[in-house]
Amino acid sequence: MTLRTRITLLTLALLAFSLLLIGASVYGTLRGTLYNNLRNELQDASQTAVTLIKNKGSLADLPNNVYGTALLIPPTIPAPTPDDILGGAAFLIPPSASLGSSGLGENALLGISPQALNEILTAGGVYTSTQLVQPSGAVVPLRVRGQRVVTEVAGFPLGASQVILLVGKSTEPIETLLHDFAQIYTATALLVLIFGGFLAYRLVRSTLEPLEWVAKKAEEIGDKFEELPQLEGNNEVASLVRSLNRMLHRLESAWQTQTRFLLDASHELRTPVTAILGHVGYLMRRTQLTPQQRESLEVVAREGERMRKLVGDLLELSQTGGWRVELGSVHIPTVLYEIQEEYGRSFEGRIEVEAPDNLWAVGDPERLHQVIANLVSNAIKANSTQIRLVARDLSERLVIRVEDNGEGIPPEHLPHLFERFYRVDKARDRERGGSGLGLAIVRSIVEAHGGSVWVESEPGKGSVFSVSLKRAEAPQPELAG
Ligand SMILES: Nc1ncnc2c1ncn2[C@@H]1O[C@H](COP(=O)(O)OP(=O)(O)O)[C@@H](O)[C@H]1O
Ligand SMILES: [Mg+2]
Repeated sequence: MTLRTRITLLTLALLAFSLLLIGASVYGTLRGTLYNNLRNELQDASQTAVTLIKNKGSLADLPNNVYGTALLIPPTIPAPTPDDILGGAAFLIPPSASLGSSGLGENALLGISPQALNEILTAGGVYTSTQLVQPSGAVVPLRVRGQRVVTEVAGFPLGASQVILLVGKSTEPIETLLHDFAQIYTATALLVLIFGGFLAYRLVRSTLEPLEWVAKKAEEIGDKFEELPQLEGNNEVASLVRSLNRMLHRLESAWQTQTRFLLDASHELRTPVTAILGHVGYLMRRTQLTPQQRESLEVVAREGERMRKLVGDLLELSQTGGWRVELGSVHIPTVLYEIQEEYGRSFEGRIEVEAPDNLWAVGDPERLHQVIANLVSNAIKANSTQIRLVARDLSERLVIRVEDNGEGIPPEHLPHLFERFYRVDKARDRERGGSGLGLAIVRSIVEAHGGSVWVESEPGKGSVFSVSLKRAEAPQPELAG
């Protein structure tokens, strides 16, 4: 997942969580307040009901949205039980108009449970939710306040009596309100989420764009230690660019120091080696030597020769990067036939060339010659009997393959082959006069040409080294005039 998507998703998740939290707390508070109000309204309605009982002996004048009933308990039952009431021992005082006039049936108790009734009788009051079934069959959810009061009842001659008063109100308006709120809030929250997600995505994109730009620029730098273009302003990205540039400087100077050291060291070594070889040669040609002395001097001469080659290779390699490649058009078949000629004489096997006639590469003829010569001498050292030099035209580029049927290279060595001083078998390759620098030189020359080199090999069967170069047009013959 990209950083951009991750940050956007995280922002969205945070937004969604906040919206959920806000919604839940507003909903909770709203619900609490509405039901609290309802409770207070029921208390007021109860007081009105008591007054009505006392003055009119009927609840018919209660407001339309209030359901009220009252049961008068005759003084003959001083301590009534729920069973007494349910058994019909109490008289019904005319109920509120909202309940209708015809037979109340179950609704005489506004749907409260026997337990709630018991609580009214023992504790004096209850506050509960019930359901009222209307004659039409519709069910109305109610909050009911039940109370046992002692009051005079108008039209009842026996003085103050116990009355069970039940007053209820529908919770439907509250539930509708809450439902509407939830719907509107959800829709709004969704809109906010969509808009917020879009905004977050845009914001993250514009924030990350400079970083992508830096990455792209750094990618373009390639082999040279070129600086990144400095950014305006003082933000994090500008300081990242500054740090990268500082790092590039340090790298460049470390690299230069190393190159200079290698260059100086190999240069300094060349003189003594030349002197040693000169004197050994003189001794062997011009003086009388015992057989032991001659043998020792031959060893000195051989090792000295090896040293000279090594120093020469080192010197070349230290010029890497600063290769004086004179890029022009190189006629590839000519290079390959030259090599065939050069190595064919001393080599016992066969060297074949297969190249289209009119194939030119962008390059330096000397250096390309050196590359192929290096690959061919490696192939010879690997005990090949047949070497093929194949060039192929790939329109934009061309590939030169050096194929041999030598001993091949075990796969674990392949990734390191082009490293400096890397040899597959140290003892064996030293014996054969290798320094391990040949392929490192090959690679640095090819890369200085903007090309690439790679190897495929199978132990026991042979190896193929391929060099890819930019193709060039045949140079125009100079026209006289
Ligand atoms: N064509 C080849 N076949 C088998 N082994 C090879 C071939 N070319 C290179 N190698 C192995 O890769 C090693 C590195 O090659 P190179 O860098 O030219 O060093 P060297 O100076 O030993 O030739 C060699 O020592 C050799 O073991
Ligand atoms: Mg070599």
